[in-house]
Parts: sequence; C-alpha cells; structure tokens
Amino acid sequence: AFAATKAPSISTMAAEQENVGNLKRKLAKLFQLSLDATVPGEPDIEPQVAACTAKFGDYQCNNAMGLWSKIKGRPGIEFRGPPAVGQAIMKNLPQSEMIESCSVAGPGFVNVVLSKNWMAQNIQKMLVDGIETWAPKLSIKRAVVDFSSPNIAKEMHVGHLRSTIIGDTLASMLEFSNVEVLRRNHVGDWGTQFGMLIEFLFEKFPNFEDVNETAIGDLQAFYKESKQRFDVDAEFKDRAQKAVVRLQSGEQMYRKAWAQICEISRREFDQVYQRLGVHLEEKGESFYNPHIPGVIEALTNQGLVEESKGARVIFIEGINIPLIVVKSDGGYNYASTDMTALWYRLNEEKAEWIIYVTDVGQQQHFDMVFKAAKRAGWFPADDRQYPKASHVGFGLVLGEDGKRFRTRSSEVVRLADLLDEAKTRSKAALIERGKAAEWTEEELEQTAEAVGYGAVKYADLKNNRLTNYTFDFDQMLNDKGNTAVYLLYAHARICSIIRKSGKDTEELKKTGKIVLDHADERVLGLHLLQFAEVVEEACSNLLPNVLCEYLYNLSENFTRFYSNCQVVGSAEETSRLLLCEATAVVMRKCFFLLGIKPVYKI
Ligand code: ARG
Repeated sequence: AFAATKAPSISTMAAEQENVGNLKRKLAKLFQLSLDATVPGEPDIEPQVAACTAKFGDYQCNNAMGLWSKIKGRPGIEFRGPPAVGQAIMKNLPQSEMIESCSVAGPGFVNVVLSKNWMAQNIQKMLVDGIETWAPKLSIKRAVVDFSSPNIAKEMHVGHLRSTIIGDTLASMLEFSNVEVLRRNHVGDWGTQFGMLIEFLFEKFPNFEDVNETAIGDLQAFYKESKQRFDVDAEFKDRAQKAVVRLQSGEQMYRKAWAQICEISRREFDQVYQRLGVHLEEKGESFYNPHIPGVIEALTNQGLVEESKGARVIFIEGINIPLIVVKSDGGYNYASTDMTALWYRLNEEKAEWIIYVTDVGQQQHFDMVFKAAKRAGWFPADDRQYPKASHVGFGLVLGEDGKRFRTRSSEVVRLADLLDEAKTRSKAALIERGKAAEWTEEELEQTAEAVGYGAVKYADLKNNRLTNYTFDFDQMLNDKGNTAVYLLYAHARICSIIRKSGKDTEELKKTGKIVLDHADERVLGLHLLQFAEVVEEACSNLLPNVLCEYLYNLSENFTRFYSNCQVVGSAEETSRLLLCEATAVVMRKCFFLLGIKPVYKI
C-alpha cells in the first residue's frame, strides 16, 4: 500500500486551456500563429506577451530580438535584423476583432492597441455573464493548502496569523480558479510537550475528565507552569517523558487527557478563525502518525534511508545535514510527520499541488522534505510539472521599534486582543465621522469589524510576503494611501454613486451599452479587463500582493475617471454607470479573494 506511485505528468502550462477573460493569453494565441508563420522552421517558440509600460500600445510582443539571435546566419533567413523580424511578426498576425492597430518600435517590439469596442463589449459581457467567466483556468483539479497550523497549548502568534491570512487568500484564489482545495490545519498536536502537559493535568485535576477550559483557564499559562515544573523537577521530567511514550502507545487515560487538552486549544483557535471568517479543516500531526511506519519502510526499501549517528536519515544532495526521519531514540519527529503527510496527500487525497504556508525560517525543512520526496520518485523530474509541492514563506511581523512584534511586557501578542484593537480603533474613526448618529448600532459594529479586520489582513497581504512587515495600527487604519480603509471607502462611494442615480443596473446591463471614448474611461476599462490575468499570476506564483496592487491601481484609475468624467446627468450616463458597476463588481471579487468583507455605504 505504501509503494511510491509514479507521478502522473500533467502539464503545468495552462496555455492550452481556453480562458475567455485572459487578454494576455488571447493575444499570446494570436502571436503563436504569427510566430509559426514567421519562422516555420522553428516551432514551439513561446510567445512573450506583456502589458505595455510605455504609451505605444496596450500590449507588446517581445519575441523579435531573441528570435533574431537564434536564427541569424541560418540559410534561407532573409531578415536583416530584429526590427525586420518584428515587422514580419506584425504582418503575420491574424486578423482579430480585439486588435485596433499594431506597430513596431525600437529593436522590434510589436505593439498592439486593443479595439475599444471590443473592450467595451467584453466588460459588458462580464457584467451579464458574471465575473466567474473571468476566472483563471488551471490544469489541476485538487490542491492542498496547509496553513495556519498553530501548536496545541502553545500560543497562536502573529506568525500563525500571517499564515492564516496568506493561506486563506491562496486557497480562495485557487477555488475561484475551479480547483478543489483541501484547506488543512496541520496543528502541532503530537509533540513531546504533551507528556508534561498531561502529567501536569493529572496532578492539578485528579478528576481531569470533567475539566474544561474555565477550570484550566488560560492554556498558555498552563503550558508555562508545566514547563517550569519540567525544567526544575527531575522526577516530574522523568514522569513527563514516560507519559509521551504512554500516550503514543495509546494508553486510554493518556489519550483522553490529550484529547481534552486539544479540545480546549481548538476552541480558542476557532474563535480567531471565526472572527477572521476563515474556514479550514483540522488534520493535525497526530492524524498521520499511524501511517508513519509504513512510509518509512517504503523509503527504506527504496534504499533512501541510511543510518547516521544512531538515527535514520535521508541524505539530500547539496545540503550538508540530512533529513532525520527516525530519531536516535526511535521516536518520530516533525520531518517524519511531514514526509508522511506529503505521501498521504499525494496518494490518498490525490492532490496535485501541495502548498505549505509558514515563515521563511522553515524553508530548509520543506526544501529537504520536497527533495527527499523527489528522490523517492513522488514528483516528476521537471519542476514545472504536477504533482508538485511549494513552500510559501513569509517574513517576520515587526513592532514599531523594528524588533519582533511583542506586547509592552514583551509577551507574545494575543491575536484576539489584536483584532479587538483593530475593531475598536476603526469604530472610533467611524464615530468621529458622525456615523453613530446616522447608522444603527448593528451597522456601526459590522462596518467597524469589516474595516478593522480588513485593515489587518490587507496590511499583511499588500507586501511581498517574503519581506518582514511592521505592524502599525495608525498606518493600516489610515483612510488615505494603500490601505483597506481607503479601498473599502472607495467601493462604498461607487455604490453610493449608483444608488443616487436612481437607476437599476440590472436593467442597464441588458439594455444599455458601454463606450470607452474618453481616455480615462479607456484606461479604467483596460484595467478591468486585466483582472483575469492578474489573478492568474497571483495564483500561479502564490503572490497575494500582486492582487493587492491591482486593486489599489483599480481604485486610482476609478478616481481619475470619476473626477474627469461626469457620470450622473451626463449624456454618457448609462455607459458610465455600467463602468461604475463593473468596477464595483471587480473590486468586490478582489475583496472576496483577499478575505475582506466589502462595505456598501460610508
Ligand atoms: N505547527 C508548525 C508551526 O507552528 C507549522 C506547521 C506547518 N505545516 C507543516 N506541514 N509542517 O511552526
């Protein structure tokens, strides 16, 4: 049962897949035909299509220069240089209703100006058919996202918060792309810490079975107290170590106490998830435990496991320490569990992409696990092929002092406190804007929550995840600049423009028509149309900040449009209201993917 199954090879390239929303892919298809016609002797040249940075067009094809250096000097090649190759690529581009005009610039860039009628029609089509039609199409069916994953009885800290926020977004983006996602909470529920926790529980509560969280109080304090005992009392330490063995061999009383402790922790974690609106399914380390011996045996039979200093290890090329899969005392560790969980996810759950979200400190661990799995033949040789595993690392959360984020008394910040403060502060800001008089208490509460929690999430997601980021309430709750507050208010304002027009957008969608004649309308329209390719990029490269940047620019483009183009009462009212609606729809989908609740009035 534990034989390594041969990895099926599924192409990573989503290129073959039809994707109605993705402009870049649509153009790449056209350029593919053109490249085939331009250099028939050179098939399989991947078209390099990118959005233009300069003003010559909307998209450009960058193949001419590379192609030239490949083919120059060959017999039968008549081109005199890269610009000529560019000209030929342009000439061979098939007719398409999406293209208005083309030109060749500089050393051979082929610039494309999109047809604004085509653009307008496609935005309108999205409004009618729904934004789902702009969803990326990935070539996999199922993925695991392993995220959040705090440790039982230890604190769930800001690192776990980052993992929760980033993992949730990645899972949502994959789900939006029609991938079935197994959202896994790989909680640390099987460590050696349980020996001391259980013995301490027995000592403090002889009737431990009736014990609940109110009796234990703070599980973290309980952990600390028992750790103190463990460190100073040799007899207790001895008992605790034996308890680990008794637990792992399945002794009933020990299993019960363990389950009790896990349950109390779970309830605490769930409160945080509930507030953040994050869903995930717990399959902790203990779940994989029964499968470990079989997996290690299979790896041993493959000749991968070696003896080293009493431990059993897997050596990995290029890394001077081996991956320990059985400790010298015969016990299993973090790596044994991760190898087994990976095996399980590939073979039992049939996941094609397995994504792990932890701080960058664990990068080497995952690197070793993935490489060991590759040695075992669990993954194809080509890294671009599925099934594959990816580690999504992130940096530290820093306090305003530039050091690791802590409370004043240098304790770990409790996540509940953090979320409370975000909400309290955003509520105060709303009251200051006079909303207490305008809104019901419930509206005030809900908006304060959406804005406060949204601000915490967005501040985390907008940075490149690998960099450390500074946790700063004042900054994240600022209503100007690149913050969730600014974006949520912008969305609410668009909704209010539509409301005040008194028009029914459902009707307008069907009967009205979008035109993109004003330059600022066109810029906004193009940006809207780029949603599909941006989500696909953010999702394939596991980079939520790419979507944040898109959302921020969308808001900026809208603002420019709105200040230069009169909407209500103008001759173009219908078209412009539809553009407002399309912007709101795209913004809401971005918010949804980022785990932020939209606000409709402000
Ligand atoms: N519990 C670990 C921690 O708090 C994270 C687990 C990540 N997932 C995994 N499969 N190792 O650091």
